[in-house]
Amino acid sequence: MQKLRIEGGRRLAGRIPISGAKNAALPALAATLLTEEPVRLERIPGVVDIRTMIRLLEALGASIEESNGVKTIDARALGEPVAPYEVVKTMRASSLALGPLAARCGRARVSLPGGCAIGARPINLHLAGLEVLGARIEQEAGYVEAIAPSGGLRGAHYVFPRITVTGTEDLMMAATLARGVTVLDNAAREPEVVDLAELLTKMGARIQGAGSSRIEIEGVDRLHGAEHRIIPDRIEAGTYLAAGALVGDGLEIDGLEPSHLGAVLEKLEQADVKLERTGPTTLRVSSNGRLRPVDVTTEEFPGFPTDMQAQWMALMAFADGVSHLVETIFENRFMHVAELRRMGVEIELSGNRATIRGGRKVGGAAVMASDLRASACLVVAGLAAEGATTIDRVYHLDRGYESLEAKLTAVGASVERVR
Ligand code: UD1
Repeated sequence: MQKLRIEGGRRLAGRIPISGAKNAALPALAATLLTEEPVRLERIPGVVDIRTMIRLLEALGASIEESNGVKTIDARALGEPVAPYEVVKTMRASSLALGPLAARCGRARVSLPGGCAIGARPINLHLAGLEVLGARIEQEAGYVEAIAPSGGLRGAHYVFPRITVTGTEDLMMAATLARGVTVLDNAAREPEVVDLAELLTKMGARIQGAGSSRIEIEGVDRLHGAEHRIIPDRIEAGTYLAAGALVGDGLEIDGLEPSHLGAVLEKLEQADVKLERTGPTTLRVSSNGRLRPVDVTTEEFPGFPTDMQAQWMALMAFADGVSHLVETIFENRFMHVAELRRMGVEIELSGNRATIRGGRKVGGAAVMASDLRASACLVVAGLAAEGATTIDRVYHLDRGYESLEAKLTAVGASVERVR
């Protein structure tokens, strides 16, 4: 199994380009199932989760062409609307195929998702919403099936009992082809939801309110082809900003969207990290030598993202004092704690609350990646630790970070893949 070996303590200078957002590209690819015409998508990141979604589209009968980094997806002739276990077992976002397939084909059969082992992560709200749109839901042998009524899905009012990002995206896609108006309340407000609404609108959908808690969708008979550029990955940007806060020496993070990073930038500033805006989409980050401890509670957007919680913990391991971190989105998202402890970090856990006693020596160690963002946390810690860190199960990182070693090596880090 591949490992990542990081020699800590190198100062990072130069420019890291940010890739397209994995979590915006996944629903965009699923949205191409809604139309018989080709959809051109720019800035799709080259990560394993995207390759899995593309394999899923191909298994469903779509054809995909790539030229100059632009992917053209043609879902004209779909076969059986079934997302098979072999393709989707590693990726929870496969549930994003449910809404589009139920809307376009009248039926969708999707293997229950796998993905990161962070909590139970059910898709009950996707299913409850589709039921409100008129679908019948059946579950058997690890598959869930949504069957639309004979006249197709119909618009309805659905209030999410809790906020779900892919749930909002799934229902928004399903509603674009439903008869009548759908109102989604307590919807997710993440930038990835807004990006998807922009793509769907270019495809002819009628959507209002994306980015707020109430989204209204007026169903149309058909959607058409479109061209769209995926937003930059705010979590990738946040991860490199965290690295820069520890070992940056004028490290430029380029091609990000600052308005998507509000809560993260605010916390970095509170921690006394030197941040400078050097262009509309560029931030320069430098280590200050000293970091102030800053408490964080994860929340839905525009709050502090759960996908940055692990990297923040790595940062706080080097802060001058005690900080607290409360995880409110996922119940089992502290698997990086045991690994950080192996590096000498003192962390107490109590339920969904972690107390980090920063400022002690953090030393390189052999550690194990357990999920995507936990791996990113270990990379951040490893870059600043004394000595070498070896991260096992690096395939988790490959699910969500494009060219991580190349990007880090180019700015002076010592990172290599070993067996
Ligand atoms: C998305 C992101 C993921 C991020 C998460 C929260 C993608 C592909 N992934 O995941 O990186 O960490 O948002 O920002 O965009 N829940 C239910 N029932 C459901 C759906 C969700 O109980 O039907 C719960 C989940 O278990 C979790 C919470 O709601 O506790 C939020 O999950 P959700 O927003 O759905 O996460 P994802 O969309 O899977």
